[in-house]
Parts: sequence; C-alpha cells; structure tokens
Amino acid sequence: MKRLQRLRRTAALRDMVAEVGFGQAQLVQPLFAVEGITAAEPVAGIGEAVRQPLTTLGAQVDRDLAAGVRQFLLFGVGASRADDGAGHEFTCAAVETVRRRLGRDATLWVDTCLCSITTTGHCHLHSPTGEADHGRTLEVLARHAVDYAAAGAHGIAPSDMNDGRTATLRHALDAAGHDLVAVMSYSSKFASHLYGPFRTAAGSAPRHGDRRSYQLDVRSRRAALEASARCAEEGADLLMVKPGMSSIDLIAPITELTGKPVGAYQVSGEYAGLVLLAREGLIDFDAGLLESWLVFRRAGAAFIITYGARRAHDLGLV
Ligand code: PBG
Ligand code: ZN
Repeated sequence: MKRLQRLRRTAALRDMVAEVGFGQAQLVQPLFAVEGITAAEPVAGIGEAVRQPLTTLGAQVDRDLAAGVRQFLLFGVGASRADDGAGHEFTCAAVETVRRRLGRDATLWVDTCLCSITTTGHCHLHSPTGEADHGRTLEVLARHAVDYAAAGAHGIAPSDMNDGRTATLRHALDAAGHDLVAVMSYSSKFASHLYGPFRTAAGSAPRHGDRRSYQLDVRSRRAALEASARCAEEGADLLMVKPGMSSIDLIAPITELTGKPVGAYQVSGEYAGLVLLAREGLIDFDAGLLESWLVFRRAGAAFIITYGARRAHDLGLV
C-alpha cells in the first residue's frame, strides 16, 4: 500500500515540509563519517572539520543539535573498496552512532550510493566486460538501503542516478517492513564541475572518465524534468535539484509537475565559492550565505541541503 504518512511521522519532518515560514527546519546538514582517520579533518572549501571518525562524530552531532540542526544527511566513507556489493558496513555503524544521539526532534537521512566504495569511483558496478551492471547495481543499492534503515535511518537518499533505483529501493524497504522510512531522491542531478570539494571529502572521484552517462546534461531541461517525474512516479517522498543554484529555474516547474516537495542541494563548489570570496575579503560570508538560502526559498525550494546548516542560528534563523 502506498503510504502518505511518511512525512508526518515526526515533528522534524512535519516542520521540514511545512509550506509557510523559513528557518532551521528546512535546512539539512551533511555529515561525513570516514573510516581509518583518528581526528576530524577539514576539507578545502567546505569549512571546518567535515571528515569525522566515529569517535568524534557523536560529539559533532551533539553540537549541531544544540545549534538547532533538525535534519542530517550522512555520507559514510568506508576504508575498503570492492566491487562485490560489500563495503557499507562502516556506514551502518555510522548510522547507529548518529541515531543514538538524535531525540525525536531530528531526522537522519543516509546518502545511498556506491562511488565511495567501488574501486572505479563510479556510482554503479561494472560487469566483467566493463559495461555498467545495472541489475546488480540496483540489487546492491536496495540491500544497502535496507541495512541503513535497519541501523536507524529515518530516510534514504539515493544519489546514484541509475534508472529505476527509487522504485527498487521503495520495494525493498517495504518488503523489509520499513514502509515508513522515507525516500529523498536526488532526482534532477546534473553532471557538474561543482562537486570537486565533496569528492575529496568522500573519496568518490571517478578513477577514469566522468559521470555523464548517468548524471544529467546541463543543457537539457527536458531530461531534468523527466528524471524528477520518474522518481515521483516511482515513490519518492521528496525530490531534489542539484547543483542548487544552477538548477534554480527547475524548482518551480518540478514542483508543479509532480506535486512533491522539491529541495535544492547547495553543493560543495557553490558553498566553497562563498567561502573563498569571504577569505579574499570580497564579501561578508554570513550575509552571502543567508542571501543564497533566501533565494532558494523564493524560487520554491521546500528544503535546502547546505554545509552551513549548523550556522543558521548565528545567521538569525530559528
Ligand atoms: C555522490 C555524490 C556527489 C555529491 C553528493 N553525492 C558527487 C558526485 O556525484 O560526484 C555532491 C555533493 C557536493 O558537491 O556537495 N553520488
Ligand atoms: Zn555516487
């Protein structure tokens, strides 16, 4: 049965998708949990201490909750790379670590992709002939999603852009009894040059080639609308455009087309642009960041994924 209650399950989710007002409830804070490091590490461009070992992750979450963060998006970066569908155990442990810290007032979304754990750095597995192995990729993504839900994720965020993954994940979650676990699909995700700082943080740069055979072409509006419509049909609870600022023209059309909440991902390169401008003394960082969020909201973004969510309180948002 199609569940419409998933986004009403907790106060944090109800507040997130409320269509009036704007504040911390609509902001999502990414977290990078990294296996094999012993102290938090900054990543150029994104700000302070973004790569965390499990030993410091819990305290980071506590500080973020105290600062008013209501939504987290976790990226797990395991130390071993394989092409057999393994390698996500560390992410399960990270999910448990974060979930233990959250009360009922915050939501944990878990990014579900393979590029941090495949030997190729691509978002899918390959067959022995070197082609993308679509069927096995979907099977593995579905298994990972179920394991993240079992570890305590409130929601799954597939970022891989393989055809049919939203339906596959939805069915697998339902079959495993996780019918109230929500899906936030990276539904209109472009092949972009603005993901650079993230790929350093997540160890997910492709070892060969690029992602243009599965992510969207920036020249095509039609394909971007079609991709989000497809995710909505397949059962996504929330949709997203990415990179946010360079997809801002698509937020309202996708909302109208699908009737779903559409978020914007202010990606690492966009965020780093503000960081670097401020470092050169060319802009006031906080004022520029707040302005960018207000513009996303004006364009109709239901929520914003931003590395600066934990600063929102300092920017005057509640
Ligand atoms: C991986 C993934 C990427 C981002 C989120 N998930 C990078 C990519 O597709 O290469 C980008 C986020 C950012 O730049 O902030 N599937
Ligand atoms: Zn990926």
